[in-house]
Amino acid sequence: MLKDKLEGLTFLVTGGAGFIGSNLVEYLINHNAKKVIVLDNLSTGFEENIKPYLSLSNFTFINGDICNIIDCHKACEGVDYVFHQAALGSVPRSIQNPIATHNVNATGFLNMLIAARDAKVKRVVYASSSSVYGDSKILPKVEHQIGRQLSPYAVSKMTNELYGEIFAKTYNMEIIGLRYFNIFGPRQNPKGEYAAAIPLFINALLNNQSPAINGDGEQTRDFTFVANAVQANMKAMFAENVNTQGDIYNIAVGERVSLNQLVSTLQKLIGTSFQPLYKAERPGDVRDSLADITKAKNNLNYNPEIKIEEGLKQTLQWFISYTH
Ligand SMILES: NC(=O)c1ccc[n+]([C@@H]2O[C@H](COP(=O)([O-])OP(=O)(O)OC[C@H]3O[C@@H](n4cnc5c(N)ncnc54)[C@H](O)[C@@H]3O)[C@@H](O)[C@H]2O)c1
Repeated sequence: MLKDKLEGLTFLVTGGAGFIGSNLVEYLINHNAKKVIVLDNLSTGFEENIKPYLSLSNFTFINGDICNIIDCHKACEGVDYVFHQAALGSVPRSIQNPIATHNVNATGFLNMLIAARDAKVKRVVYASSSSVYGDSKILPKVEHQIGRQLSPYAVSKMTNELYGEIFAKTYNMEIIGLRYFNIFGPRQNPKGEYAAAIPLFINALLNNQSPAINGDGEQTRDFTFVANAVQANMKAMFAENVNTQGDIYNIAVGERVSLNQLVSTLQKLIGTSFQPLYKAERPGDVRDSLADITKAKNNLNYNPEIKIEEGLKQTLQWFISYTH
């Protein structure tokens, strides 16, 4: 059904050369979207991630910056729906350089909303983050109960949610925010000081090294395979009879594992037994994270089909075939 739906439609994926964005692009192309446009400045993404599509007549790559409103306007021309993924991820990066995080995540987001408004885009679905819950001790996390944010990154994502709601109400736009909880999967970058835990662990184990864990490893996360996030984006984009005035949804599996459990599962799947290397805790990190996904299930018909172990298997296969 969705396949027929996409055939006549034009999509913009900002950050489409990144990890989650390129998985969204893959889905849209595989489901016969009329046109897919990617706006990405390749700051943390890679042209390699969208290479299979560059020669397709229904695909356009704009190497541009969401901090430049002219690029945003150009990218939104003729677009029906916007998936906004472009941002500078990572809590530590934002602590080291809050201005860069603010410029891209807050000002860049505002630019995109203005461009989407001016192009009369039908709906914008954007990436928020579980970091918005900050110091709230409540578990599981329910959308309307947030704490105080613990990092500039979290503040930038909170800003998105505030602007999302205000733009929807002020300019009569359709906008939905998705609070992602630790997404992982193929094409997540394992390199660099701001890499996420799962690709770092996989990379270490595949290279016969001990995985480094910040803290005692007993901190928990609701790790979510990227195909679930793609499904959530599609469902949020096409959901009917939902609140589109900046409403927010948790996107996760609704189960949590500790980093120590995660490393053991990876060791089992790879067949290694390297002892983790425990390092100092990182400032700005939350201790426990677990989502209540009832709202997304009920309103969007979201159903995270792929659980952590299956997701890790698929992720490992990708790492083995593409990086080794
Ligand atoms: N991966 C996660 O677990 C997770 C969790 C919560 C939220 N998010 C959010 O999801 C979105 C996608 O994250 P990801 O993990 O795919 O990260 P990613 O770094 O792989 O992708 C982000 C993409 O945005 C592009 N980009 C950055 N600055 C830009 C700019 N100024 N102009 C144009 N493009 C720019 C990058 O080049 C990259 O391709 C982000 O908004 C991120 O904050 C991710």
